[in-house]
Amino acid sequence: MSDANKTYPVPAGFAANANLTPEKYREMYAASIADPEAFWGEHGKRLDWMTPYTTVKDVSWETGDLHVKWYSDGVLNVSANCIDRHLATRGDKPAFIWEGDDPSDSYTVTYNQLHVAVSKFANVLKELGVKKGDRVTIYMPMILEATYAMLACARIGAVHSVVFGGFSPEALAGRIVDCKSEVLITADEGLRGGRKVPLKVNADAAATIANGMVKKMLVVRRTGADVAMTEGRDHWLHEIGADISADCPPEPMSAEDPLFILYTSGSTGQPKGVLHTTGGYLVWASMTHQYVFDLKEDDVFWCSADVGWVTGHTYIVYGPLANGATSVLFEGVPTYPDASRFWQACDKHQVTIFYTAPTAIRALMREGEVPVRKTSRKSIRLLGTVGEPINPEAWEWYFHVVGEERCPIVDTWWQTETGGTMIVPLPGATDMKPGAGSHPFFGIKPILVDAEGNTLEGAADGNLLITDSWPGQMRTVYGDHQRFIDTYFTAYPGTYFTGDGCRRDEDGFYWITGRVDDVINVSGHRMGTAEVESALVSHDAVAEAAVVGYPHDIKGQGIYAYVTLVAGCEATDDLRKNLVQHVRAEIGPIASPDLIQFAPGLPKTRSGKIMRRILRKIAENEFSNLGDTSTLADPEVVTDLIEHRQNRP
Ligand code: WT7
Repeated sequence: MSDANKTYPVPAGFAANANLTPEKYREMYAASIADPEAFWGEHGKRLDWMTPYTTVKDVSWETGDLHVKWYSDGVLNVSANCIDRHLATRGDKPAFIWEGDDPSDSYTVTYNQLHVAVSKFANVLKELGVKKGDRVTIYMPMILEATYAMLACARIGAVHSVVFGGFSPEALAGRIVDCKSEVLITADEGLRGGRKVPLKVNADAAATIANGMVKKMLVVRRTGADVAMTEGRDHWLHEIGADISADCPPEPMSAEDPLFILYTSGSTGQPKGVLHTTGGYLVWASMTHQYVFDLKEDDVFWCSADVGWVTGHTYIVYGPLANGATSVLFEGVPTYPDASRFWQACDKHQVTIFYTAPTAIRALMREGEVPVRKTSRKSIRLLGTVGEPINPEAWEWYFHVVGEERCPIVDTWWQTETGGTMIVPLPGATDMKPGAGSHPFFGIKPILVDAEGNTLEGAADGNLLITDSWPGQMRTVYGDHQRFIDTYFTAYPGTYFTGDGCRRDEDGFYWITGRVDDVINVSGHRMGTAEVESALVSHDAVAEAAVVGYPHDIKGQGIYAYVTLVAGCEATDDLRKNLVQHVRAEIGPIASPDLIQFAPGLPKTRSGKIMRRILRKIAENEFSNLGDTSTLADPEVVTDLIEHRQNRP
């Protein structure tokens, strides 16, 4: 259990040069809550506007008239803010440092070079017929062209939808069709941990499933693999872009024009397209990046996420570039060629700020201290984590072994929906408690409520709500505004429901306790149990499936599937493997069930509702107290489930 009273002060060496102090944080936070219009009116000026805004906030969270608008009469361009405006002062500064999968493979791109690369890429998109407002799907490995593609879309006003390269053709096709994206950008293959990922093959399969939706495919050469190109539809970037002009003026965009769609899992149904817009998102991305990471001009910032997730959008691309920072893009994995890789690359590029996920920390922790200790890491001054609650053991290891007690840890709680960090121990501004999200960022007012929606005061445990809008808030679910309203604003009217549980301790620190809905968090990747279930039941042998999370040493949560088979199908280990394969094909490897239990029946109420609470307890191997089982239609089912449980230590 975490010890709420264990506190570490800000390391003295860090505090001496920190941008924030506890007093400054308190002062700015109070101002942001007292008068959001004035606060965000002032901080919106951190961007370059083609037409300055005169209105700041136009928000209603009333379900009848739900809208979220910030800076809505302002005009700007995201790529101009991320690139062009830095050219006069930072033209020769590295914008990106790319570290390849192979440790001998790396290069740097300056802001001047980025300007050329993105302008050319944008002209290629125009050549392919992409226009302002069109959706463009990006299915790419972690190479710089992925970031050029994003910024090129932003430059011409197209809306990008980046789909993680680990998703299957089926999952990719679903996302393409949902947002009616006619252009798909991919690569021949990806390279991760020495293994090749057949992106073009997957893209072709997705295009087939999407049945004519994909009109143009732009293919980047990464490995040089021999891939099939469909005449008229497919184009190599190096061919179509060979003689293209490097002059592409940034398109003037309204602050509320869409910037990107990013699909994320919910508690029900298929993934939803979270929509972020231009002005507010960039204010939020750049402001949080600056304050959360105590940014200084000479920092080398490394966020180890994939650009396929929101973390990559906000803290590899948009936040760092809007701030004129140097951002590292890493193609590989933390354990290749060995468990020293992160720290070796930190030494090589003199990384000053390092941001990763608890699951990576736990995986490296298992390899012991030697791979860490053999590197210097002296350049690092700040560490960060994101994606799931960090267990105190992993926090301590990160702090003592990796950071040598010199570096504060920023544990950043946020969501795809929030655009950027919401709750965080801002460095220099607060003592640290291992595992605590700690305090709200400027403009964020969290509250805790019980199941009935009563606000809880003081030390308490409840559901986490946010009471007012912030500039980086998602604007809608693409193509389904009602789903936006239903998901976030209906359970507790007038507030934003995060889906997370949270505890506030005696000192006012917030501790995120995890999802309270049917969303699980596997290695920091968000997965809807309903999605895995529907993948399972699409297999011929499966009659019914129920999926829950269970505690997993490395992944945080593992996927536990209860499966009932159709009559006549035999419960064999082969079938088990087959089902895992099937889910990988339907969604992707990240959705692979870790444990599958074949069950003659699932515990249901008399009205037929699956009692997930019981399934969770059995999966957690904590079946001694199953709570109230009196509403079960058939109590015998539970006895069998316990007897054949799969999670035995
Ligand atoms: C969910 C959002 C934020 C980008 C990566 C995940 C969990 C995220 C933390 C943290 C505890 C965290 C929450 C949240 N989560 N960061 N620092 N401490 N939990 O984005 O895929 O939209 O998932 O991840 O449960 O709701 P996402």
